[in-house]
Amino acid sequence: MKALVLAGGAGTRLRPITHTSAKQLVPIANKPVLFYGLEAIADAGIKEVGIIVGETAAEIEQAVGDGADFGLDVTYLPQPQPLGLAHAVLIARDFLGDDDFLMYLGDNFILGGISALLDEFRTHRPDVQLMLTRVSDPSSYGVASLSEEGRVTGLEEKPARPRSDLAVVGVYLFSPVVHEAVRAIAPSDRGELEITDALQWLLDQGRDIRPTVITGYWKDTGNVADMLEANRCVLEVLEPGIEGFVSADSELVGRVRVCEGAEVHGSRIVGPALIGAGSAIVDSYVGPSTAIAENCRIEDSEIEFSIVLNDSAITGIRRIGASLIGCHVVVAPAPRVPAAHRFVLGDHSKVQISS
Ligand code: TTP
Repeated sequence: MKALVLAGGAGTRLRPITHTSAKQLVPIANKPVLFYGLEAIADAGIKEVGIIVGETAAEIEQAVGDGADFGLDVTYLPQPQPLGLAHAVLIARDFLGDDDFLMYLGDNFILGGISALLDEFRTHRPDVQLMLTRVSDPSSYGVASLSEEGRVTGLEEKPARPRSDLAVVGVYLFSPVVHEAVRAIAPSDRGELEITDALQWLLDQGRDIRPTVITGYWKDTGNVADMLEANRCVLEVLEPGIEGFVSADSELVGRVRVCEGAEVHGSRIVGPALIGAGSAIVDSYVGPSTAIAENCRIEDSEIEFSIVLNDSAITGIRRIGASLIGCHVVVAPAPRVPAAHRFVLGDHSKVQISS
């Protein structure tokens, strides 16, 4: 069994972060979302992993290396353009050979691992084992319909009138028969080879697609709201601890982790919150569900329910909420009068001013 991890793509929904970095490397509780997936793959006992990479190949390769840190043997598979999930399978043909394989979307976040999916696949030997989860708003997802015997009978992409509440999670187990399917389908209206179409083709050929319905937490972290939500969820179970320095006039409430080399002065931090190595929190409030990455400075500011990436500085701002702030960002008040907002914003930035 091999694994195919998809870490290419355009990442349009996470612009401008994705103009300069890979969305799969945006941290959840200060760890790249992709690493959670690689760890789950290693835990499931799979060693040989092909990672599909696009424009951000260099960054992904630098972060993951040869995979040894995860106990994996990683091969990089460049995809010249993000032409769809089924296209990724198409270009991975030589790497995958005639092995069964797990396909994992590198921006998906699943708590509880993937071993149950593998066990079901090994027991029943279907052509495809699909991971599904119940959602309250199925029309935003790929939705599966099941027969009375619990087989997958149909798949629809973002249906206006969903036939079930079972959304397709970004983890699939394929037997080699899928290679025939990805060669047989044509690009969709948006110009991509869709994995849903490949699955539908297999169903039309009478192939056996079985579901594994998971009950654990799952998020596709492709947009900011879901990223913040996944971050919140992981921080809920954060191991609290102080490895850095916390001054006597500071107050930490609940699950708070202050990493090595971080400093907290004259501040109040209400957990769950994570302060990354080398960061300084000075005369500030850091509220629940916030992860500050490494070497940041938060001074005379308030921030909650947010993710701040490394080397950013926030000074004199009250209050920041529900925000995703990139690397090397500076957020500060405009200098003196006139009372105007002053911006230097990258393409596709989104700023919401409270006044
Ligand atoms: P998506 O989130 O479906 O697509 P995207 O990355 O292009 O994002 P957006 O819709 O915001 O523009 O992709 C799911 C995962 O698969 C993600 O990790 C990127 C990866 N991917 C590829 O590696 N190659 C591809 O051709 C596509 C479409 C996605």
